[in-house]
Amino acid sequence: MPSPSCAPADLSPLYLLLLGCGRVGMELLDLLAARRDWLAAELRLQPLISGIATRSYGYLLHPRGLEPGGFASAEELLDELKQTGARAADVEEFILQGRAAGASALIELTTLNPHNGEPALTHISTALQAGLHVVTANKGPLAYAQPELQALARQRQVQLRFEATVIDGLPLINLAQFTLPGVGLHAFRAVLNATSSIVLSGIEQGLQMTEAIEQARRLGIAEADPWYDLDGWDAVMKTTILANNLLDGRLTPVMVEREGIGEIPPAEIRAAAAAGTPIRLLSQAYRQGELVVAQVRPSKLADNDILRYAQGATSVISLQTEAMGTLSLVEHAHEPAVLQTAYGIFSDLVTILLQRRASTPHVAQ
Ligand SMILES: NC(=O)c1ccc[n+]([C@@H]2O[C@H](COP(=O)([O-])OP(=O)(O)OC[C@H]3O[C@@H](n4cnc5c(N)ncnc54)[C@H](OP(=O)(O)O)[C@@H]3O)[C@@H](O)[C@H]2O)c1
Repeated sequence: MPSPSCAPADLSPLYLLLLGCGRVGMELLDLLAARRDWLAAELRLQPLISGIATRSYGYLLHPRGLEPGGFASAEELLDELKQTGARAADVEEFILQGRAAGASALIELTTLNPHNGEPALTHISTALQAGLHVVTANKGPLAYAQPELQALARQRQVQLRFEATVIDGLPLINLAQFTLPGVGLHAFRAVLNATSSIVLSGIEQGLQMTEAIEQARRLGIAEADPWYDLDGWDAVMKTTILANNLLDGRLTPVMVEREGIGEIPPAEIRAAAAAGTPIRLLSQAYRQGELVVAQVRPSKLADNDILRYAQGATSVISLQTEAMGTLSLVEHAHEPAVLQTAYGIFSDLVTILLQRRASTPHVAQ
């Protein structure tokens, strides 16, 4: 079991607060531990966890920072923190005390609320207001309130990054922002909800709906309530975020046409697959005059459709651009799949650190 620590003399501490520590949070802590040498060599930083908050354990702070990784379960980690750390009364105190102890970023990894993004939206806003960078994999706050949250981040001179909200670590938001400036993106088609793909593939292979859902759960991919996936809500959140960031849409989730896969009879799913046109949950958005139109609905995919790569947990997106024609990206399923999400968080964190270093050239970090 790792012991509480502070950074070695030649490294600066990178203090982080974690809000939510389930599958993604635990995987991120292991990834930070696995990249300890890389962070030291590239950025002269040692990541240390200043505090972790969860619904059942409350708001736990560690005065000197806990080394990430090496815990067998979230319970083991949180029990250790409970014994060695202090407790904040609420999220505001957690954030302010963590900030006072040196934390520079909040990693927000709590459960999706597809109806209004709360309470994560308020938590992110509190952290930005307190001057913390925020990295999140939680779609709700971004889908409902990205313009307000980003205005607050700009005002407080911090960053809000959210690559992992769409396809884990696959660069999409970052691709549009850093790699394809002015390319003229005008539409996309994608299969974005891995749980729906796994459930559809499972039913095609003869499983019952409940067995196929269990399979997605075992992979750690399904939302806490898998019906948010099957009813199309998860894909609506992702489609909203992509439409707003890739196509300059001004959408909220209720403006995206939504139809999930939960009501499709298994016989219809199997017949479509047998006919060579399997059904997948298709997300698409395109510009129509001044507007951006977005939809999520089950669709039959023809033989030559690139989105046919969406088997199991594999996600696919095709971007239609003026200058580069059609570009398609595929994130192949990986074991454990949740590592790809953790990498999305890690890469956002590194982006923030690199930009911080670039803007303060005379300070090591
Ligand atoms: N899993 C994936 O592959 C994946 C991929 C992309 C994005 N995401 C997103 O990443 C986020 C985390 O996913 P996950 O799979 O790690 O979820 P998870 O395993 O269900 O963990 C959620 C964590 O958040 C905590 N939590 C929930 N509500 C809270 C609140 N109000 N205050 C403090 N803590 C709270 C939970 O605490 P308790 O356990 O005590 O309830 C738990 O520690 C979600 O928004 C999800 O949509 C996940």
